[in-house]
Amino acid sequence: MKRATWSAHEDAEQHGFSRALLEGALPRESYAAMVAQHYFAYAALEEVGRSLAADPVAGRVVHPELFRVPALERDLTALYGADWRERIAPTAPTRAYTERIERTAEDPAGYVAHHYTRYLGDLSGGQFIRRVAERAYGLDQRGGTAFYDFSALGSLPRFKARYRAQLDALELELDAAAREHVVDETRLAYRLNMAVLADLGASFAADAAV
Ligand code: HEM
Repeated sequence: MKRATWSAHEDAEQHGFSRALLEGALPRESYAAMVAQHYFAYAALEEVGRSLAADPVAGRVVHPELFRVPALERDLTALYGADWRERIAPTAPTRAYTERIERTAEDPAGYVAHHYTRYLGDLSGGQFIRRVAERAYGLDQRGGTAFYDFSALGSLPRFKARYRAQLDALELELDAAAREHVVDETRLAYRLNMAVLADLGASFAADAAV
Protein backbone atom coordinates (compact mmCIF):
# COMPACT_ATOMS: atom_id res chain seq x y z
CA MET A 1 0.00 0.00 0.00
CA LYS A 2 2.72 2.42 0.98
CA ARG A 3 4.72 1.67 -2.18
CA ALA A 4 1.69 2.21 -4.40
CA THR A 5 0.70 5.54 -2.87
CA TRP A 6 3.88 7.15 -1.50
CA SER A 7 4.17 9.73 -4.29
CA ALA A 8 0.77 11.06 -3.23
CA HIS A 9 2.18 11.28 0.29
CA GLU A 10 5.14 13.31 -0.89
CA ASP A 11 2.79 15.84 -2.47
CA ALA A 12 0.85 16.09 0.80
CA GLU A 13 4.00 16.50 2.85
CA GLN A 14 5.48 19.16 0.56
CA HIS A 15 2.30 21.16 0.61
CA GLY A 16 2.62 24.81 1.73
CA PHE A 17 0.23 24.40 4.63
CA SER A 18 1.98 21.22 5.84
CA ARG A 19 5.37 22.88 5.58
CA ALA A 20 4.27 25.91 7.58
CA LEU A 21 2.74 23.56 10.13
CA LEU A 22 5.95 21.56 10.48
CA GLU A 23 8.04 24.69 10.80
CA GLY A 24 5.81 25.91 13.62
CA ALA A 25 5.12 28.94 11.41
CA LEU A 26 1.38 28.49 11.20
CA PRO A 27 -0.73 30.90 13.27
CA ARG A 28 -2.60 29.25 16.14
CA GLU A 29 -5.93 30.06 14.42
CA SER A 30 -4.89 28.09 11.35
CA TYR A 31 -3.90 25.13 13.52
CA ALA A 32 -7.29 25.39 15.25
CA ALA A 33 -9.03 25.56 11.87
CA MET A 34 -7.28 22.36 10.81
CA VAL A 35 -8.36 20.60 14.01
CA ALA A 36 -11.93 21.76 13.35
CA GLN A 37 -11.86 20.27 9.85
CA HIS A 38 -10.42 17.05 11.26
CA TYR A 39 -13.41 16.85 13.57
CA PHE A 40 -15.86 16.60 10.66
CA ALA A 41 -13.74 14.07 8.78
CA TYR A 42 -13.30 11.82 11.84
CA ALA A 43 -16.97 12.08 12.80
CA ALA A 44 -17.73 10.62 9.33
CA LEU A 45 -14.89 8.07 9.44
CA GLU A 46 -15.92 6.78 12.85
CA GLU A 47 -19.65 6.73 12.17
CA VAL A 48 -19.09 4.64 9.04
CA GLY A 49 -16.49 2.59 10.94
CA ARG A 50 -19.07 1.67 13.57
CA SER A 51 -21.55 0.66 10.90
CA LEU A 52 -18.90 -1.58 9.25
CA ALA A 53 -17.41 -3.04 12.44
CA ALA A 54 -18.78 -6.51 11.65
CA ASP A 55 -17.95 -6.35 7.94
CA PRO A 56 -15.48 -9.08 6.90
CA VAL A 57 -13.28 -6.60 4.99
CA ALA A 58 -13.59 -3.19 6.68
CA GLY A 59 -14.09 -4.74 10.12
CA ARG A 60 -10.44 -5.82 10.10
CA VAL A 61 -9.16 -2.27 10.35
CA VAL A 62 -11.80 -0.78 12.64
CA HIS A 63 -10.24 -0.49 16.09
CA PRO A 64 -12.27 1.52 18.60
CA GLU A 65 -9.01 2.44 20.42
CA LEU A 66 -8.16 4.57 17.39
CA PHE A 67 -11.34 6.64 17.52
CA ARG A 68 -10.40 10.32 17.55
CA VAL A 69 -13.68 12.15 18.06
CA PRO A 70 -13.49 12.30 21.88
CA ALA A 71 -9.91 13.64 21.67
CA LEU A 72 -10.92 16.16 19.01
CA GLU A 73 -13.73 17.38 21.26
CA ARG A 74 -11.18 18.05 24.00
CA ASP A 75 -8.87 19.82 21.56
CA LEU A 76 -11.65 21.99 20.21
CA THR A 77 -12.72 22.96 23.71
CA ALA A 78 -9.12 24.06 24.41
CA LEU A 79 -8.76 25.90 21.09
CA TYR A 80 -12.20 27.51 20.68
CA GLY A 81 -13.81 27.35 24.13
CA ALA A 82 -16.83 25.46 25.46
CA ASP A 83 -19.04 26.82 22.65
CA TRP A 84 -16.81 25.34 19.92
CA ARG A 85 -19.74 23.61 18.23
CA GLU A 86 -21.24 26.98 17.30
CA ARG A 87 -17.91 28.30 16.14
CA ILE A 88 -16.87 25.73 13.55
CA ALA A 89 -18.31 24.55 10.23
CA PRO A 90 -17.07 22.21 7.52
CA THR A 91 -15.47 23.93 4.54
CA ALA A 92 -16.50 22.97 0.99
CA PRO A 93 -13.49 20.62 0.55
CA THR A 94 -14.25 19.01 3.91
CA ARG A 95 -17.85 18.45 2.80
CA ALA A 96 -16.60 16.76 -0.37
CA TYR A 97 -14.26 14.61 1.73
CA THR A 98 -16.88 13.59 4.28
CA GLU A 99 -19.39 12.81 1.51
CA ARG A 100 -16.85 10.48 -0.05
CA ILE A 101 -16.19 8.80 3.30
CA GLU A 102 -19.94 8.40 3.85
CA ARG A 103 -20.28 6.65 0.50
CA THR A 104 -17.89 3.97 1.67
CA ALA A 105 -20.60 2.70 4.03
CA GLU A 106 -21.56 0.75 0.87
CA ASP A 107 -17.95 0.14 -0.19
CA PRO A 108 -16.01 -1.59 2.60
CA ALA A 109 -12.78 -1.89 0.59
CA GLY A 110 -12.95 1.85 -0.12
CA TYR A 111 -13.44 2.44 3.59
CA VAL A 112 -10.17 0.61 4.30
CA ALA A 113 -8.39 3.11 2.02
CA HIS A 114 -9.76 6.10 3.92
CA HIS A 115 -9.01 4.47 7.24
CA TYR A 116 -5.41 3.75 6.28
CA THR A 117 -4.78 7.24 4.86
CA ARG A 118 -5.83 9.02 8.02
CA TYR A 119 -4.93 6.79 10.94
CA LEU A 120 -1.56 5.54 9.68
CA GLY A 121 -0.68 9.14 8.90
CA ASP A 122 -1.67 10.26 12.39
CA LEU A 123 0.43 7.48 13.88
CA SER A 124 3.43 8.48 11.71
CA GLY A 125 3.90 12.09 10.56
CA GLY A 126 1.20 13.13 13.04
CA GLN A 127 3.62 12.44 15.85
CA PHE A 128 6.01 15.12 14.49
CA ILE A 129 3.14 17.57 14.12
CA ARG A 130 2.22 16.94 17.73
CA ARG A 131 5.68 17.96 18.97
CA VAL A 132 5.77 21.08 16.82
CA ALA A 133 2.25 22.13 17.86
CA GLU A 134 2.98 21.61 21.54
CA ARG A 135 6.04 23.80 21.27
CA ALA A 136 4.56 26.44 18.97
CA TYR A 137 1.21 26.92 20.71
CA GLY A 138 1.94 25.76 24.26
CA LEU A 139 -0.63 22.96 24.06
CA ASP A 140 -0.63 19.44 25.43
CA GLN A 141 -2.57 16.22 25.22
CA ARG A 142 -5.07 17.38 27.84
CA GLY A 143 -6.40 19.80 25.24
CA GLY A 144 -5.01 20.95 21.91
CA THR A 145 -2.99 17.91 20.84
CA ALA A 146 -5.08 15.08 22.31
CA PHE A 147 -5.79 14.10 18.69
CA TYR A 148 -2.18 12.93 18.31
CA ASP A 149 -2.05 11.10 21.62
CA PHE A 150 -2.36 7.37 21.01
CA SER A 151 -0.92 6.21 24.31
CA ALA A 152 -3.96 3.91 24.75
CA LEU A 153 -2.50 1.80 21.93
CA GLY A 154 0.74 1.02 23.76
CA SER A 155 3.74 0.82 21.45
CA LEU A 156 3.01 2.71 18.21
CA PRO A 157 5.60 0.84 16.12
CA ARG A 158 4.08 -2.45 17.25
CA PHE A 159 0.54 -1.28 16.50
CA LYS A 160 1.58 0.00 13.06
CA ALA A 161 3.34 -3.28 12.25
CA ARG A 162 0.20 -5.20 13.19
CA TYR A 163 -1.99 -2.87 11.17
CA ARG A 164 0.25 -3.26 8.11
CA ALA A 165 0.19 -7.05 8.52
CA GLN A 166 -3.61 -6.93 8.62
CA LEU A 167 -3.66 -4.86 5.43
CA ASP A 168 -1.23 -7.24 3.71
CA ALA A 169 -3.37 -10.23 4.69
CA LEU A 170 -6.46 -8.48 3.36
CA GLU A 171 -4.69 -7.63 0.12
CA LEU A 172 -3.98 -11.30 -0.50
CA GLU A 173 -7.65 -12.10 -0.20
CA LEU A 174 -8.89 -9.40 -2.58
CA ASP A 175 -8.99 -9.93 -6.32
CA ALA A 176 -6.94 -7.68 -8.60
CA ALA A 177 -9.83 -5.29 -9.31
CA ALA A 178 -10.59 -4.81 -5.62
CA ARG A 179 -6.90 -4.27 -4.85
CA GLU A 180 -6.71 -1.64 -7.54
CA HIS A 181 -9.81 0.00 -6.13
CA VAL A 182 -8.22 0.27 -2.68
CA VAL A 183 -5.08 1.88 -4.15
CA ASP A 184 -7.14 4.31 -6.26
CA GLU A 185 -9.31 5.21 -3.30
CA THR A 186 -6.19 5.84 -1.20
CA ARG A 187 -4.86 8.21 -3.84
CA LEU A 188 -8.23 9.94 -3.86
CA ALA A 189 -8.16 10.17 -0.05
CA TYR A 190 -4.78 11.92 -0.28
CA ARG A 191 -6.18 14.35 -2.88
CA LEU A 192 -9.24 15.09 -0.76
CA ASN A 193 -7.00 15.75 2.24
CA MET A 194 -4.79 18.03 0.20
CA ALA A 195 -7.81 19.99 -1.00
CA VAL A 196 -8.81 20.58 2.63
CA LEU A 197 -5.29 21.77 3.48
CA ALA A 198 -4.99 23.90 0.33
CA ASP A 199 -8.20 25.68 1.22
CA LEU A 200 -7.02 26.29 4.80
CA GLY A 201 -3.68 27.43 3.38
CA ALA A 202 -5.40 29.93 1.08
CA SER A 203 -7.24 31.56 3.98
CA PHE A 204 -4.03 31.54 6.05
CA ALA A 205 -2.12 33.22 3.20
CA ALA A 206 -4.94 35.75 2.73
CA ASP A 207 -4.83 36.60 6.45
CA ALA A 208 -1.04 36.86 6.36
CA ALA A 209 -1.23 39.30 3.45
CA VAL A 210 -3.51 41.73 5.31
C1 HEM B 1 2.74 17.50 7.58
C2 HEM B 1 3.29 16.78 6.67
C3 HEM B 1 3.56 15.33 6.81
C4 HEM B 1 4.70 14.74 7.27
C5 HEM B 1 5.96 15.40 7.76
C6 HEM B 1 4.51 13.31 7.20
C7 HEM B 1 5.45 12.39 7.57
C8 HEM B 1 5.30 11.03 7.55
C9 HEM B 1 6.29 10.05 7.96
C10 HEM B 1 7.69 10.38 8.48
C11 HEM B 1 5.76 8.84 7.81
C12 HEM B 1 6.41 7.51 8.17
C13 HEM B 1 7.02 6.85 6.97
C14 HEM B 1 7.54 5.48 7.30
O1 HEM B 1 6.94 4.76 8.10
O2 HEM B 1 8.55 5.13 6.72
C15 HEM B 1 4.42 9.03 7.30
C16 HEM B 1 3.56 8.02 7.00
C17 HEM B 1 2.26 8.20 6.54
N1 HEM B 1 1.62 9.41 6.29
FE1 HEM B 1 2.43 11.22 6.47
N2 HEM B 1 3.26 13.07 6.72
C18 HEM B 1 2.64 14.26 6.46
C19 HEM B 1 1.38 14.46 5.94
C20 HEM B 1 0.48 13.46 5.66
C21 HEM B 1 -0.85 13.67 5.13
C22 HEM B 1 -1.50 15.02 4.83
C23 HEM B 1 -1.39 12.42 4.99
C24 HEM B 1 -2.75 12.05 4.49
C25 HEM B 1 -3.85 12.50 5.00
C26 HEM B 1 -0.41 11.45 5.43
C27 HEM B 1 -0.58 10.08 5.45
C28 HEM B 1 0.37 9.14 5.81
C29 HEM B 1 0.18 7.71 5.78
C30 HEM B 1 -1.07 6.97 5.32
C31 HEM B 1 1.37 7.12 6.23
C32 HEM B 1 1.67 5.63 6.39
C33 HEM B 1 2.46 5.07 5.25
C34 HEM B 1 2.75 3.60 5.49
O3 HEM B 1 3.63 3.30 6.27
O4 HEM B 1 2.06 2.76 4.90
N3 HEM B 1 0.70 12.12 5.83
N4 HEM B 1 4.16 10.38 7.16
